[in-house]
Amino acid sequence: MQHKITSFEQYQETYKKSVEHPEQFWDEIAHTFSWKKKWDTTLDWNFKEPSVKWFINGKLNITENCLDRHLEKNAQKPAIIWESNDINEPNRILTYQELHDEVCRFSNVLQNNGIEKGDRVCIYMPMIPELTIAVLACARVGAIHSVVFAGFSSKSLSDRINDATCKLLVTADGLYRGNKTVALKEICDEALQTTSSIEKVIVYKRTNEAINMQIGRDVWWHSEMQKATPHFDAVEVDSEDALFILYTSGSTGKPKGVVHTTAGYMVFTYYTFLNVFQYESDDVFWCTADVGWITGHSYIIYGPLLNGATSVMFEGIPTFPDAGRFWAVIDKLSVSKFYTAPTAIRSLMASGLEFVYPYKLDTLKVIGSVGEPINEEAWYWYHEHIGKQKCPIVDTWWQTETGGILISPIAGVTPTKPTFATLPLPGVQPILVDSGGYEVSGNNVEGFLCMKFPWPSILRTTYGDHERCRLTYFSTYENLYFTGDGCRRDEDGYYRIIGRVDDVMNISGHRLGTAEVENAINEHPNVVESAVVAYPHDIKGQGIYAFVIVDKQSIEKGIVDTDPDTGDAEADSLRLLNITAFKNEIRDIVSKIISPIAKPDKIQIVSGLPKTRSGKIMRRILRKVAENDISNLGDTTTLLDPSIVDEIVKNAQ
Ligand code: WTA
Repeated sequence: MQHKITSFEQYQETYKKSVEHPEQFWDEIAHTFSWKKKWDTTLDWNFKEPSVKWFINGKLNITENCLDRHLEKNAQKPAIIWESNDINEPNRILTYQELHDEVCRFSNVLQNNGIEKGDRVCIYMPMIPELTIAVLACARVGAIHSVVFAGFSSKSLSDRINDATCKLLVTADGLYRGNKTVALKEICDEALQTTSSIEKVIVYKRTNEAINMQIGRDVWWHSEMQKATPHFDAVEVDSEDALFILYTSGSTGKPKGVVHTTAGYMVFTYYTFLNVFQYESDDVFWCTADVGWITGHSYIIYGPLLNGATSVMFEGIPTFPDAGRFWAVIDKLSVSKFYTAPTAIRSLMASGLEFVYPYKLDTLKVIGSVGEPINEEAWYWYHEHIGKQKCPIVDTWWQTETGGILISPIAGVTPTKPTFATLPLPGVQPILVDSGGYEVSGNNVEGFLCMKFPWPSILRTTYGDHERCRLTYFSTYENLYFTGDGCRRDEDGYYRIIGRVDDVMNISGHRLGTAEVENAINEHPNVVESAVVAYPHDIKGQGIYAFVIVDKQSIEKGIVDTDPDTGDAEADSLRLLNITAFKNEIRDIVSKIISPIAKPDKIQIVSGLPKTRSGKIMRRILRKVAENDISNLGDTTTLLDPSIVDEIVKNAQ
């Protein structure tokens, strides 16, 4: 742990060194790892194409650094402690030796099922240790994993499989989520009707429900594993070979496959985990994210395992069997570092302190937050009732594209301020710019958050479409990586993330594009057009507000969202019924096409949308309506039909 920063002065010195001599700085950290062959050049980059390469010509396998490297001293140390959805099911503990052996076995299974270096493997799994085993086995054979969050619909799954032309799918019969089960294999079967690249499906038995197994294509995890040995020589890959693809939403309708490569991602997740959480060897670290998101990739699997840490993996949800579940698990497993999302904190806060009081929480040392801005109230509640005023809160800002944490306090080292992600980690060079791309310098300023120098785990491309990567992140401001976030730098130089400035919403910490949701709504046969915006939501951070234009037929059926009080009680109640049914249909469609997380909270039926003369929807106005801030709608005279605004305001939800 020679790279651990333990005082604020040391942070300042280290930061300075990392900015003045970035190559030397990262070089030294990279030497910690086992390499099959060391690199010859540390960095080559330009943000124009973009092209970023770290540890050039290095050869390695990341799983040797996650697993094999720890076997000599820590073979019997728990690598994963798994907590079931069912509070009464015993924990599963996998030591480093056991995890290593399981990963080797599954690497053999992948190979026996035709997977070779460079192939894409889709993983659509419950939060069980086998998910981690599958991820690491892909890395061990040099295949590229594409984990799809198991809450996504069959359509989202097939789109992702097709985009990356995945050859194999790893899934389970079903999953448990609170008191529900989800028939995962059934969703896969539906998805596979519209894909042609998948040759094999490996199915883990979790819920024991009856499923279809297609002969020749589908095989059982347990029978394949029985045939496999626990030895597998890790395949040599290049530093810049892709490690994984992870899909994330942007401003357009189609999610993009963010590509991370091997060595840079390894070095950065190792370093940020060690420092931000001030890792100690006896820690029990618990990140509550799902492995389907970047947080789970970097801080359930790779960051902790690269450090030889013990990582908790939780199958369930925070409110099952009741809202004290997180706190019960912290006491039961003696969790020392806990990392969750503001939306979870807010919802548990709303459930009341009676769910917190029964628990001691006295093993906690550091508590963290990620995924969206944390509001002051939630920050103080977390600090007081969970951290008992003695645990530093690390409000970590980062993105799928950044691979690891970029701006965050270092626990116990950086003085914190509620709602501030505070300062950049070593090697991270933020810059704020105005809309013209000019640097906004000094303190007490606001601007668009960009990065002016590459850190090792910056995204390399978007899968199959490099131009899209360039356009989205590297073309808005010359020679800068644009994050899509607005940001404030206060009088102390501390950074506070304000939120997205593009058409990306953040619903309970999940990224969703407005266009993505609109496309789904427009699939309803009676919808002519729709526009979606986010609005502040007490628990979810942001909620989804959809404005929907319906066709003539629907209007005839009475699906018009105007004042229902016509005096004719029967007709009014019929129409209300119709409207409710129609809105539910829209929610169902969105659920089916994207995921239940994308369902609009509010739907307003409108006769038109506020458009400029060139046909562009003025979302600014819709946002104001959704935020219930109609006192100042700004200039509406440039609209094609300004009267539409009056109607929208009058019927706002
Ligand atoms: C937002 C999640 C404020 C931000 C790791 C970013 C945050 C987007 C924070 C990325 C934070 C993430 N404070 N906002 N601490 N962390 N965000 O790709 O808008 O799912 O651009 O990555 O979440 O979301 P993503």
